[in-house]
Amino acid sequence: MNPENPLTRIVDYLRISITDRCNERCLYCMPEGFSDWKLREEILTYEEILAAAETAVGLGFRKFRVTGGEPLVRKDAEHFVADLIALPGVEQVGLSTNATRLAPIARHLAEAGLRSVNISLDALDPAIYSRITGGKLEQVMAGIDAALEAGIPVVKLNAVLMRGVNEHQIWPLAQFAAEKGLILRFIELMPVSLTEMLDESNFLPAGEAKQIMASHTPMIVDDHHYGNGPAQYFRLPELDSSVGFIGAMTNLHFCEACNKIRLTADGKIRPCLGNHGEFDLKPALRPEINPALLREIFLASLREKPPEHQFRNQYQPGRIMTAIGG
Ligand code: 5AD
Ligand code: SF4
Repeated sequence: MNPENPLTRIVDYLRISITDRCNERCLYCMPEGFSDWKLREEILTYEEILAAAETAVGLGFRKFRVTGGEPLVRKDAEHFVADLIALPGVEQVGLSTNATRLAPIARHLAEAGLRSVNISLDALDPAIYSRITGGKLEQVMAGIDAALEAGIPVVKLNAVLMRGVNEHQIWPLAQFAAEKGLILRFIELMPVSLTEMLDESNFLPAGEAKQIMASHTPMIVDDHHYGNGPAQYFRLPELDSSVGFIGAMTNLHFCEACNKIRLTADGKIRPCLGNHGEFDLKPALRPEINPALLREIFLASLREKPPEHQFRNQYQPGRIMTAIGG
């Protein structure tokens, strides 16, 4: 750990959003008819993001994840990912994507050294998938297969739990993940956007999802951690696979091991997804890059990282998740 990193928790993981835009419109993410995208000049250039990443490395950050919006809708995303991987001191780089545009560049990303890709997949039924995302399941399937064929070492699936929408997909998703040899995680809905789906009535607790899974197949607590996140894992011996549950709302210990902060596409450090505080890096990036000031702002954001999220306290999101970064 870097002694200048002022937290007792080791914060060494930076999630970088490279765009707030997306080619899908998931029910829990994008408000209907949303078009309030950031202007191009508000979005950090790749050069500016790499300067921020370099500062992070100097403060002991070793793990990075590229997110959006949908990161692969930004031009040259694969070159940016390769440049980030090549930065001295960067040890692990992952990508979070809806995978609709992954297939054509999966090999390039694998060759650049991409360590992991997290793919959003909330349903296996094409009609339900379309209803949730507005997108085409077949593109995602092509993306998953391409990631596996390219040999990206860790490929994970993320499914957001929605009552009345995809609880009947829990078991098919588990079978599919097992067939493909993938780790699957189920995620509780979090109030990080302003859509109708985020109503209490659609909330499906992780505990209930576990019961649904347990009604299909035996589950055994699995102490292994398959990533940097706060998921709880279970072995499914009959399927010879593991599934995780990310209970941001119902797991009261959720934040204890949080090791990450976020950088938004428009250059704000966000120490916690579920707290409003943000630290603007732009004064340290424009009109020119100022490494000393970058470092100062990063340190301030680490000092102010709150102990836990405010999702259980009538949290009202100030910006939607595409604008924060998943
Ligand atoms: N609640 C829970 N998860 C969400 N994601 C996006 N919005 C929400 C929400 N409101 C997830 C996506 C993706 C990851 C980046 O964040 O499904 O898997
Ligand atoms: Fe796009 Fe991801 Fe939001 Fe879905 S959850 S609309 S894929 S940014």
